[in-house]
Amino acid sequence: MIKEAEVEKRISELADQINNDFKGEKVLLIGVLKGSFMFLSDLAKKITLDTEVYFIEALSYGDGTSTSGVVKITKDIDRDIKDENVIIVEDIIDTGITMSKVMEIIKFRGAKTVRLASCLSKPSRRRVEIDIDYLGFEVEDKFIVGYGLDCAQKYRNLPYIGVIEE
Ligand code: IMP
Ligand code: MG
Repeated sequence: MIKEAEVEKRISELADQINNDFKGEKVLLIGVLKGSFMFLSDLAKKITLDTEVYFIEALSYGDGTSTSGVVKITKDIDRDIKDENVIIVEDIIDTGITMSKVMEIIKFRGAKTVRLASCLSKPSRRRVEIDIDYLGFEVEDKFIVGYGLDCAQKYRNLPYIGVIEE
């Protein structure tokens, strides 16, 4: 659906924006496992700021296809983020429920700025409003795989963004 070269070009643009927005400052990239690993890695390579990289894992409890809204951080960072510039890096914002809770938790810890970078967004699925500061691409309501995103843990390694055919 989105070719490797197109993804690369868009990520360079996002990195330029980040480099401009935080000129002369330090940023903490916090990737949400596992889906964000490839996006984070490509984005980080193009960020020229003083940068640190962390990962968290967040689980949102539900029946498998829909989230209940109960979100738990199951792997956390081991660093105080008070007064830091945090950019949370996510693979895709779907209903927005997971990310709105994660943002709430990170903000509560006293970061100076908390911004969101997401490779993809499915706006038609949104259930809670969420501002994406650095967005790669908007996609339709289809099940996306590749570039970090999985279907039952498969296809994360694909270098492009694809759709599972019915
Ligand atoms: P939500 O925004 O709380 O609904 O949940 C978003 C999470 O669900 C993302 O971080 C992904 O891990 C997963 N997800 C949502 N849509 C897709 C998709 O199309 N393909 C793969 N994973 C998805
Ligand atoms: Mg995820």
